[in-house]
Amino acid sequence: MDKASYKRELDKVLSSRVNEIFVFDEIDSTNAEALRRLKTSYSDTLLLTASSQTAGRGRLGRKWHSPKDAGLYLSLVKNFPRELEGLQALSLVTALSVRESLLSLGAGEIQLKWPNDLLVGKAKLGGILLETRLQRECVAIVFGIGLNLLLSEDAKSEIDREVTDLQALLPVMVEPVILIANIVSRLLDNIELFEREGFSRFQSQWNAADRYLEQDVVIQSAERKFIGRCLGVDDSGALMLRTVSGVARVTGGEIFPSLRSLGDG
Ligand code: ATP
Ligand code: BTN
Repeated sequence: MDKASYKRELDKVLSSRVNEIFVFDEIDSTNAEALRRLKTSYSDTLLLTASSQTAGRGRLGRKWHSPKDAGLYLSLVKNFPRELEGLQALSLVTALSVRESLLSLGAGEIQLKWPNDLLVGKAKLGGILLETRLQRECVAIVFGIGLNLLLSEDAKSEIDREVTDLQALLPVMVEPVILIANIVSRLLDNIELFEREGFSRFQSQWNAADRYLEQDVVIQSAERKFIGRCLGVDDSGALMLRTVSGVARVTGGEIFPSLRSLGDG
């Protein structure tokens, strides 16, 4: 599908909810472009998608491999009142929205790794990167979503971990444009729900999909390392860990499966 038809299709489904839609063949990063656009745009909601990214980014400055037409690379931008609490939980709401969308299209089991990964077994199917900017009286959030659709063997071998793609999960592959419309609509619905009811509405859904629930993990954050048994998230989206010194509440950092069993410690 050419760029113009692609944009027309997205406009058809999303124009009542998204003020501006941009479709690129190639861009450095849809998140980076979204942040650039924010400097001049007064729109409340923007969507940017690209067929490939030359500098796709993951968390903590990591690279997101984004070969042409091998994945979805999109960023949704939305403004929130500065006083809205618990915005960091929107990373979890985004992962849940993508998962819900893929399940509705027939994908089998997809699990989530706090706070931003979509997994099938140990293999990474997609990732979420939220970036924020203070804008006048609002906070603008860029919801970056990367989802593998059809990775070549070469592309897979360039990524330093086990990966999978949607092609392996669906009996019949869905048109990317339909997938984007479905994911973005669902994400916007869930953002509205989050604004009304907070993260508590999503807590049990997350815990049911959590890849590491009741497993021993190590979490490395900027300041410290936590080791413990994953108890799932609380009603604000923070990860609860049973550690030797009691229950710890983790609100940031990275999670890795631990090799050692802690028992009930
Ligand atoms: P870890 O895998 O160590 O738990 P992470 O998933 O928390 O790390 P992120 O910063 O969330 O790390 O994601 C970036 C990582 O995702 C990269 O370091 C790379 O290992 C992996 N990656 C990069 N591109 C892709 C891709 N297209 N599909 C799947 N994984 C990718
Ligand atoms: C991660 O798992 O670390 C997050 C990966 C997020 C990748 C997406 S692709 C679209 C958007 N633009 C980027 O540069 N990154 C996000």
